[in-house]
Amino acid sequence: MSDTTGSVYLLARGGSERDRLNAQQKTVRKCVYDDRILNDDTVLLQPGCRILDSATGSGAWLIDAAQEVPEGAELYGADISDKSFPPPNDVPSNAHFSVAPATALPHEWDGYFDVVHQRYVANALRASDWKTALSEFHRVLKPGGALQLVEIDFRYPTSVGPTMKKYEELQRSVRNSTGVPVDAASHLGAWAEEAGFVNVMAQKKYVPVSKKWGEIGQRGFDAHMGALRNLTQGYLKAGFIQSGEEYSALLDDVEKEWDEFGVRYTIWVVCARKP
Ligand SMILES: C[S@@+](CC[C@H](N)C(=O)[O-])C[C@H]1O[C@@H](n2cnc3c(N)ncnc32)[C@H](O)[C@@H]1O
Repeated sequence: MSDTTGSVYLLARGGSERDRLNAQQKTVRKCVYDDRILNDDTVLLQPGCRILDSATGSGAWLIDAAQEVPEGAELYGADISDKSFPPPNDVPSNAHFSVAPATALPHEWDGYFDVVHQRYVANALRASDWKTALSEFHRVLKPGGALQLVEIDFRYPTSVGPTMKKYEELQRSVRNSTGVPVDAASHLGAWAEEAGFVNVMAQKKYVPVSKKWGEIGQRGFDAHMGALRNLTQGYLKAGFIQSGEEYSALLDDVEKEWDEFGVRYTIWVVCARKP
């Protein structure tokens, strides 16, 4: 279940997953980031600042951020795999991409960054990986540097129907096998404090994933249901499902219940500082 760097990751990479991540940035920016790139108003980016986006995927957040940073700012996207990295023509001149797991960032990045951002990798990290990653983020930040983590709480915040319950059972067996906690997002504030961060602020936001919520709900739906569908090959390979058709039929029913119940996913935004 683990790859050579110790990460547990079942979601597809590249191709349609890259497109999904890029589209998702617009929805998340609106619902979670109050239409900005960072939630903490006290983070004042200076000319020449350095920003790391760990588990960057397609670099969707990083490329968006590159439009809004001051003169001379440098942006670094790191990921355990380069498969979803943007094509070279789409990389802004002030952005750099490299392969590095969140749990083992390069030694030359000691005290290098003003900001570390990481989003939506909670389905790949066990509690022990989170603790290692947080101490890496602490190491690579300058004193006074800012951390922002944005993660999904995989427990449904609203009442669930029979098919969603069935899907949750599948999720439970995946998590029992991978050791990835369902509620990691809700512990990030406490884990950040344990890693030595101060001024930790943990805030809940919501991404609607149902037509009931209008256009934004439809976009949230596309992002989240797209992820569940892009898990098909990973689940098949790991033996969590026996047939892609059966899994697809289950998701068709989940879709109907999301619409019926007006489901929203809870997202935790954790902002903190290195002292
Ligand atoms: C769902 S994508 C999110 C990408 C991006 N953060 C975003 O929000 O658009 C998760 C990414 O985490 C990466 N990943 C998985 N395990 C990782 C690890 N241990 N360290 C760094 N990246 C990891 C995957 O390769 C994938 O690109």
